[in-house]
Amino acid sequence: MAGSRASRLGAGVGPKYPQVVVLVGATGDLAQRKLLPGLFHLFSAGFIPDLRIVGVSLDDLGVEAFRERAHRAIDQFFTRQAGDGEWAAFAERLDYVPLSAGAEALAAAVARAESGLAEAHPGQESRRLHYLSVPPAAALTVVRLLAEADLAAGSRIVMEKPFGTDLESAVALNDRLHEVFSEDQIFRIDHFLGKEPAQNILAFRFANGLFEPIWNRTFIDHVQIDVPETLGLSTRAAFYEATGAYRDMVVTHLFQILGFMAMEPPTSLEPGPISEEKNKVFRSMLPLDPREVVRGQYAGYRSEPGVDPQSDTETFIALKCRIDNWRWAGVPFFLRTGKRMAEGQRIISIAFREPPKSMFPVNSGVGAQGPDHLTFDLADASKMSLSFYGKRPGPGMRLDKLSLQFNMKDTGLMGEVLEAYERLILDAMRGDHTLFTTAEGIERLWEVSTPLLEAPPPVRLYAPGSWGPKSIHQLVAPQAWRLPFEREWRNTEEQS
Ligand code: BG6
Repeated sequence: MAGSRASRLGAGVGPKYPQVVVLVGATGDLAQRKLLPGLFHLFSAGFIPDLRIVGVSLDDLGVEAFRERAHRAIDQFFTRQAGDGEWAAFAERLDYVPLSAGAEALAAAVARAESGLAEAHPGQESRRLHYLSVPPAAALTVVRLLAEADLAAGSRIVMEKPFGTDLESAVALNDRLHEVFSEDQIFRIDHFLGKEPAQNILAFRFANGLFEPIWNRTFIDHVQIDVPETLGLSTRAAFYEATGAYRDMVVTHLFQILGFMAMEPPTSLEPGPISEEKNKVFRSMLPLDPREVVRGQYAGYRSEPGVDPQSDTETFIALKCRIDNWRWAGVPFFLRTGKRMAEGQRIISIAFREPPKSMFPVNSGVGAQGPDHLTFDLADASKMSLSFYGKRPGPGMRLDKLSLQFNMKDTGLMGEVLEAYERLILDAMRGDHTLFTTAEGIERLWEVSTPLLEAPPPVRLYAPGSWGPKSIHQLVAPQAWRLPFEREWRNTEEQS
């Protein structure tokens, strides 16, 4: 029932005030797959006291047509149980203004939404949240529209990634944005930071005494952040052609995860100290060396609808990244991601140094299956594993690779997991910047990207369903890519 889940999770998880959400890009892929279903969940589970949504996009639709689209999106992408009553209550909170209607029409729709809330909740204030789910090239036009409609004061704005397309455009975007919104109104979203297991990296590292002492160059050999995807472009060819795997995934999600993984302990879990420590990691990153980058394109990409037949856009990227500070000097971080690959996975794999000497006979199996690894699976049903060598039962001394594994399903709390966007939308509504990225951090990441963006190596073809172009193996040699896993995760459901 509405309200029960949020109240079980305790007070303070949601915003205090009813919200008016101006959702720009409301008919786009992200809005359909994540934002509308997410807002529906937050509303129907009672996380938000009340809300109105004003959808905005280039499509010339009426309110009813927008509601129908939202209904279809929720039917298709909402993964929990929902009744018709919940949908009806949500639908009547949806309004729509095509971009072509201009600032005045938008201002009028927001005023309607606010007076609707004021009537429903006499004496209570409401807050405005603008969500810009638009490509970087369109962001400033929308910011200007919001200024013209006089909707900026006192509101908050969520900006989707990628934030700019290079250093110059990111700096320009920040400057222009700051003419309308102050930094504390801006929430640059990176949904990987809203994933439960990403936050669990912080809990794991800083709530325990066990691992932090070995979280450094003395004990760690190298780190892999590997996010292969099986999915292709779906309806996003226009966005993807202009963006590519590096801007879509690395400069955003993978680097942010790297920030959590590599940062020093913050003085507190507040937005300022966390950003400061992440930004220190980004400041210590060496500029990328294009010779240590493999760009790939899956065979057949150029014949996809909406793709240039001579496209140089990469659908795959693997690279070596270095953090030149006391903790990480000499420890390579290998990052990889791509579309239409063999498996969909999101892992961080930490390879520990091997012992300096071995007293085990060569044929014992010692070291035969790589170093000890600590692995985080960043899927919603997150998992962790610590692998080590242990003795195989029986005579003699044969060694096998064994592991300790944790699966979030074992906690019985999977139902409590908020989808990443849901979590971050709630935080933005509450004005909490902890899991958002800063102008400084993003600009620094574009700065280290400059050598690659200026001289990208040629794209190499890879077969759809593979692990990328062959040269990925040279990139990590003498180490090896951790994926595909040699041993499967243990499936606890099957065992019980
Ligand atoms: C998005 C990218 O930000 O992240 C997509 O634009 C990618 O290309 C997606 O598929 C992956 O996110 P998730 O949450 O499905 O791992």
